Amino acid sequence: MAELDLDKHPIAAETDIASQVPIIDIASLLSDAHSADANKAIQAIAGACQTWGFFQVVNHGISDDLIENVWAQTRHLFALPAEQKSRILRSKENPWGFYNNELTKNQRDKKEVFDFTREGIDPIYSQRNRWPVGQEAFKTVMMDYYQACTKLSLNLLKAFCLGLNLPAEYMHTNFVDHHTGFVRLNYYPVRDPLTDSTVNHQPQADLGVHHHTDAGALTVLMQDEVGGLQVYRKGYWHDIPPVPGAMVINTGDMMQVWSNDVYQAAIHRVLAMDASDRYSIPFFFNPSAKSQISPLPTVVSEQNPARYRAIEWARFRGARTDGDFADYGTEVQISQFRLT
Ligand code: OGA
Ligand code: NI
Repeated sequence: MAELDLDKHPIAAETDIASQVPIIDIASLLSDAHSADANKAIQAIAGACQTWGFFQVVNHGISDDLIENVWAQTRHLFALPAEQKSRILRSKENPWGFYNNELTKNQRDKKEVFDFTREGIDPIYSQRNRWPVGQEAFKTVMMDYYQACTKLSLNLLKAFCLGLNLPAEYMHTNFVDHHTGFVRLNYYPVRDPLTDSTVNHQPQADLGVHHHTDAGALTVLMQDEVGGLQVYRKGYWHDIPPVPGAMVINTGDMMQVWSNDVYQAAIHRVLAMDASDRYSIPFFFNPSAKSQISPLPTVVSEQNPARYRAIEWARFRGARTDGDFADYGTEVQISQFRLT
């Protein structure tokens, strides 16, 4: 099947900087999205979204202190005894918490994860976060990080809008106050976390994360210095090298639908670790539950009609999560909503 063959495509040889995912300074975008310097950053972002669906940002406004604390708490969490992690285990009804048996496209990934969202009852699954017991600092640091990522994402959203010739805050109503973004802590150990497990699981986990697109609008990802994240483009897998202090940004399925395929949701994956453990922390910036996603006015015309019918975010996300948790058949994809 073509889908599965994608992970067998070759890895691109290291080449010149021009053929790599760009690193973009967004200080000007954060201070005044309508300045001339900001416009340069916006054009660079729009260009990256049309070619790679990936770019890295520096001067993104998230403080070094907070970032250091987030890494420390993340390492601490995964180092907890298995018994403590099993007390915050995700379930079919409630996707928040710890998990080490995730499937991407129905194949097992070699990793452990911890997912959390805003506090309270979430509007998609009607569930609450699970927090590790007796780790008060963990929750405080993680919620601070959640807020910082939300702020950065709203700024990036302005660039996406301006890049599509829309007013800067055109998409904000789909997110402000009610967005369903969530943070995932990823731990990719060298040793398969299910080595000694007695639960029924698929034997082989030959990748950290099998190839996929992220379902939402955009992803803000912090990775450590190990590397292993790759983006697929034109027959090759390209490394996204760790850049100290940078955040990796990629577009998701909903951005592809809104932009009517102008911005591509990037196909990416993570190699299985064989030398050192790796940690990464994506923040998935997702619309509010009831958001109806369909191609925006400036990208639709008589010559270029809408390519997708409207998608209700909560339904799309709910269906995707079921596929990640267990093999409930084919994972939902935006291609199922294509009109042409
Ligand atoms: C993800 C993902 C990349 C990484 O969790 O969806 O693509 O570098 N992670 O861990
Ligand atoms: Ni991803």
